[in-house]
Amino acid sequence: MSSGTTLPKDQTDRQLTDPRFFASGGHHDLFRRLRKEEPVRWTDGDAPRPFWSVSRHADCVAILKDPVTFSSRLGGLMPLSAREPNEQEMRAGGYGFIPTHTDPPRHMTLRRPFNKFFSAPAIAPMIAKVQNSVDRIMADILPRGECDLVDDVAAQLPTRIVCDMMGVPPQDLARIRHHCAAFLGAQDPAYQIDGDALKTQQVNMRALFDYMFELAMQRRGAPSDDFTSVIGNLEVDGEKLSEADVGWWCFSIVAAGLETTRDCVSIGMLELLGNPGEMERLRADPGLMNLAIDEVVRWVNPAMHKFRIATRDVDIGGKRIRAGDWVVAWLVSANRDESVFDDPYRFDVGRKPNPHLGFGVGEHSCIGRHLARMEMQLMFQALIEHIPDMRQAGECEWLVSNKHSVLKTLPVRFTPRPAVAA
Ligand code: HEM
Repeated sequence: MSSGTTLPKDQTDRQLTDPRFFASGGHHDLFRRLRKEEPVRWTDGDAPRPFWSVSRHADCVAILKDPVTFSSRLGGLMPLSAREPNEQEMRAGGYGFIPTHTDPPRHMTLRRPFNKFFSAPAIAPMIAKVQNSVDRIMADILPRGECDLVDDVAAQLPTRIVCDMMGVPPQDLARIRHHCAAFLGAQDPAYQIDGDALKTQQVNMRALFDYMFELAMQRRGAPSDDFTSVIGNLEVDGEKLSEADVGWWCFSIVAAGLETTRDCVSIGMLELLGNPGEMERLRADPGLMNLAIDEVVRWVNPAMHKFRIATRDVDIGGKRIRAGDWVVAWLVSANRDESVFDDPYRFDVGRKPNPHLGFGVGEHSCIGRHLARMEMQLMFQALIEHIPDMRQAGECEWLVSNKHSVLKTLPVRFTPRPAVAA
């Protein structure tokens, strides 16, 4: 089963599997070297199992566009354990139910009925709600003259929007936020239960699933005007979805919709604050906003990698990948690939073309991207327009992770102002 050249555990492999290395930002230089010298590398570091590190854009696209050869059966992020889950663990972990944890043909059967709810025209009517949430966030921070851009701004918007959409009552938002952050940030000691990343992931995933499942079952019996009610009562070919499908879809929307948008807003603002020229360009020409959002997603890469398992022997980048091998497509590297992007280490709010992979590509590509774009657009517009003198006011802190690109804190200051009219 093991394959490829047998390399000693060297520094490169240890770094690729060390979540602290990514938190320090060192990975960009490493990937620059790998793309040039060894774009498909057998990586025998400190992960549960050795795996193929794929760092070039074209190879990542080839992998993500071929879900039959590159399976998502164990999910889209590198597992924290090498052991194959048993039947009970498969059920508890949503394998075969969470869209990112399923393969064709089941995946499309699961996803197809949902595409229409997330199309651009279907999302467009949400604009008033999103603007209202943005106005409230601004009204909260403007008179204070300082805030944490992560907790007070970037995390607030998607939490309010997605939870409101799903009918989660306001008093439960903090709980939902914690479970999402701890489940996705389980590699970070700050979130860990008993210093155990796997246990942290499982406990928080379960808690989030149980919460959404219970809500969905209530709505199945007594529908309300939220999307959980729509899912709970959705019929495909005249039959209601199974209870498990309903529960895992509700879980997936919350789990996928909160963190990623937060990371783009917070890290995008960090980048704009550090690039006053680009900030000014965007302020002077708001018509650049659409391009700027793509550049933020390319730059931030909330999902740093996508994980797959090869189902057959296949050649990628001149290396023979064997059936059963773990494969990691490093989106964070693909999005800085100099053969695709001019001057890839420059943050350019007018970048065009920008074929970034931040929303994924192929069958599993992000279903929520139109909603995410709307949230980002309105939030960036408000921050740029109403707080021209925002500045960083202290150290920012990064999540310890080689899966997600996350800022934990970003203190900022500005002149206190009266709230903008909501
Ligand atoms: C800037 C924000 C976002 C980014 C960067 C992002 C990124 C991604 C990526 C890279 C994937 C591909 C997963 C894979 O290939 O395994 C994905 C899938 C997905 N995203 Fe997003 N996402 C964002 C926002 C959202 C939002 C707001 C929602 C829902 C409200 C959402 C729901 C989903 C779902 C359900 C999937 C699974 C699709 C499938 O497997 O068919 N995402 N996202």
